[in-house]
Amino acid sequence: MQSSFTARPRTLFLDTHDVARLLGVMGLPEAFRALVGRLKADYLRWPEFDKEARIAAYSEQGTIELMPITDGTSYTFKCVNGHPGNGAYGLPTVMAMGALLDCDTGMIRMMSELTLTTALRTAATSVMAAQALARPDSRSMAVIGNGAQSDFQCIAFHALLGIDELRLYDIDPQASVRLQRNLQASELGGKPLQIRICDSVAEAVRGADIVTTVTAYQGQEQVLTADLIEPGMHLNAVGGDCPGKTELEPKILEQASVFVEFSPQTRHEGEIQQMAADFPITELWQVLAGQVAGRRSDAEITLFDSVGFALEDYCALHFIQAAATQYGVGRWVDVTPGQEDPRDLYGWLLAHEHAEPALA
Ligand SMILES: NC(=O)c1ccc[n+]([C@@H]2O[C@H](COP(=O)([O-])OP(=O)(O)OC[C@H]3O[C@@H](n4cnc5c(N)ncnc54)[C@H](O)[C@@H]3O)[C@@H](O)[C@H]2O)c1
Repeated sequence: MQSSFTARPRTLFLDTHDVARLLGVMGLPEAFRALVGRLKADYLRWPEFDKEARIAAYSEQGTIELMPITDGTSYTFKCVNGHPGNGAYGLPTVMAMGALLDCDTGMIRMMSELTLTTALRTAATSVMAAQALARPDSRSMAVIGNGAQSDFQCIAFHALLGIDELRLYDIDPQASVRLQRNLQASELGGKPLQIRICDSVAEAVRGADIVTTVTAYQGQEQVLTADLIEPGMHLNAVGGDCPGKTELEPKILEQASVFVEFSPQTRHEGEIQQMAADFPITELWQVLAGQVAGRRSDAEITLFDSVGFALEDYCALHFIQAAATQYGVGRWVDVTPGQEDPRDLYGWLLAHEHAEPALA
């Protein structure tokens, strides 16, 4: 692998097979541990980042979002979609790609798949929030919505929070069977997982320490209603993440202490879009930095209103770049022409225009 672009400006390219290989070498629990550590470190640098709410294109079927961020050294962006009806076309609901650039030169250091990586960083962020907000004695979690993201949430909470009892519910019972099968086939270490497939949201939620909602529906659903919420619960609301797409009955928000990633984005996209513009919330970084208390009592209901923020993708891109370099995974591609005279772009084209097309 080339470590510098001084000779030739090449870009590291990682596809899903490369990222799968990296996660295979590291092991998912270990990858989560390392990523949560990095996320915390980056969240503690919050004031150093130039932050903005993501730029979104909305259609009836879903959303396509561009998520840029920089700390003045690196610039990263992710392009991600959310189309809950994609199953009908044999496509995942969420797909993503992204890039990491040097601020000093604009050099494109890395381009990568971010579909697997999004599932990884979303679960890692949920765990980071739960470590600060859930009761430390939490052992059971209800998981409502058992699609693509859910396996990663379950594994991360098992590995890092000691969750060893899972209650699964999905409107599609086959989704829960798939999730259970995958978890049983995984080597996760720690205490054995007890997994129960439930017939209703109420059955899954009753007595759970943590409730994760990670459903995909293009509209305002009330997946979780206030009558199901018990004192001391931590709610990890992941699925409501764009305007007009929510999972919780608004009454729950009134009962809970609500924590968010980046408030200008979450007020527009999160569960709190259902509340007044001055509805009280706390940004998660303030809790991590020790500026504001997280959970204040065992009886408090805490809610992480997750929508996904660009800082998490910045962190994940750096994480997989470091791992790819360590394990020699990925390949170098010429996204930028490597002409000897950087101003002679046309000369480079003249030298290459008669080259044989590489595609069959
Ligand atoms: N907050 C974040 O950072 C973040 C990141 C990635 C994805 N997401 C969101 O998470 C959600 C799930 O993503 P995914 O990739 O797992 O989608 P998916 O389509 O693979 O799975 C969604 C599952 O939810 C189930 N479902 C739908 N409505 C339900 C309901 N009312 N009750 C129970 N189950 C229901 C579906 O049957 C499906 O199995 C999406 O809405 C996505 O936009 C959020």
